[in-house]
Amino acid sequence: MARPARTAAGGADGRIVPGGVIARFGDRLPLTDRTPRISLNEGDTPLIRSLNIGPELGVRELYFKFEGLNPTGSFKDRGMVVAVAKALEAGSHTLMCASTGNTSASAAAYAGRFGLRCVVLIPEGKIAPSKLVQAQVYGARVVAIEGNFDDALEAVRLLSESAGVTLVNSVNPNRIEGQKTAAFEVVDALGDAPDMLFIPVGNAGNITAYWKGFKEYHADGLSTQLPQMIGAQAEGAAPIVRGEVVADPRTVASAIRIGNPASWEQATTARDESGGVIEAVTDGEILSAQRLLAASEGIFAEPASSASLALLAKLSHAGRVPPESTVVCVLTGSGLKDPSATEEHLLPPLRLPANARAIAKALKL
Ligand code: F0G
Repeated sequence: MARPARTAAGGADGRIVPGGVIARFGDRLPLTDRTPRISLNEGDTPLIRSLNIGPELGVRELYFKFEGLNPTGSFKDRGMVVAVAKALEAGSHTLMCASTGNTSASAAAYAGRFGLRCVVLIPEGKIAPSKLVQAQVYGARVVAIEGNFDDALEAVRLLSESAGVTLVNSVNPNRIEGQKTAAFEVVDALGDAPDMLFIPVGNAGNITAYWKGFKEYHADGLSTQLPQMIGAQAEGAAPIVRGEVVADPRTVASAIRIGNPASWEQATTARDESGGVIEAVTDGEILSAQRLLAASEGIFAEPASSASLALLAKLSHAGRVPPESTVVCVLTGSGLKDPSATEEHLLPPLRLPANARAIAKALKL
């Protein structure tokens, strides 16, 4: 029987073709015969070609890898499915993580679906409300701690030493394994690796994962080149850019409000091996990139995600992006995750009577 197309949701005979990262890339993941082939149909996200921003910035080919279209609305699902499959294989009963929001939502969703307990530690009052709702509705036990993400991560590292508890932050290597599949998808879609990959950096797991994926495909002859890895941190939470831990990280992009990234060294390795850079963008630059992306491309990404585009705009204005480049911006999460950060910059609705003529007049139709 012919192999079904990777993107197909159903076969010609109406069967549902198994989807998800494990079904599609299992041969490149650390699976055994005993690893359950679980899925929430994560991955297979679109690589959307820019219509307006690329030409405006003078970048020949610009694409957005929109990870906000994963089942829980962020890229975390790619790594979570592998981490949870391995936790099930190992006989764990509980998943645990620290989170700025998205990891907790993802862990909670897989825990609910596959019968595990889930405990998440979040910095109190510092995560987007929609992400907290997600973790709760999927059934996680949420613990809000006085402290920031870095404090929460330190605590869960100790707590997860108990038997039967699996830590599902990106310090778990299975998370990185799953997340590297996004790089495979980028190369599969373009036919080669891009020249530059822009990506937001928080705890630095994702830049580590993409670099691993690009290197693996390249080593197997599936791409002719490797991209420059360009990491974006928020100015108030830019430990890697500054070269020192930030004790009190601050940024509107709450997902990347991290002062001491766990995968710091791997991120600088990705940067240096690829000939890339990791630089900072201001909150203002992040929010205007977010609005530009929504208003001129029809893509609503959360503030942390928009840091990648903010840095692309900054570097291309400085003449640091060759015009003939093929560039990919990774958009890590959906804008619906954190609308409050954006609201104050938007035009309020026009308030008018329910009268067609009055509305037409006000709108000059
Ligand atoms: N973008 C979004 C939307 C995120 O949620 C995160 C991380 C990042 C970018 C940065 O990725 O940490 O691999 O460098 N969120 C984590 C969380 C920390 O707890 O949800 P990273």
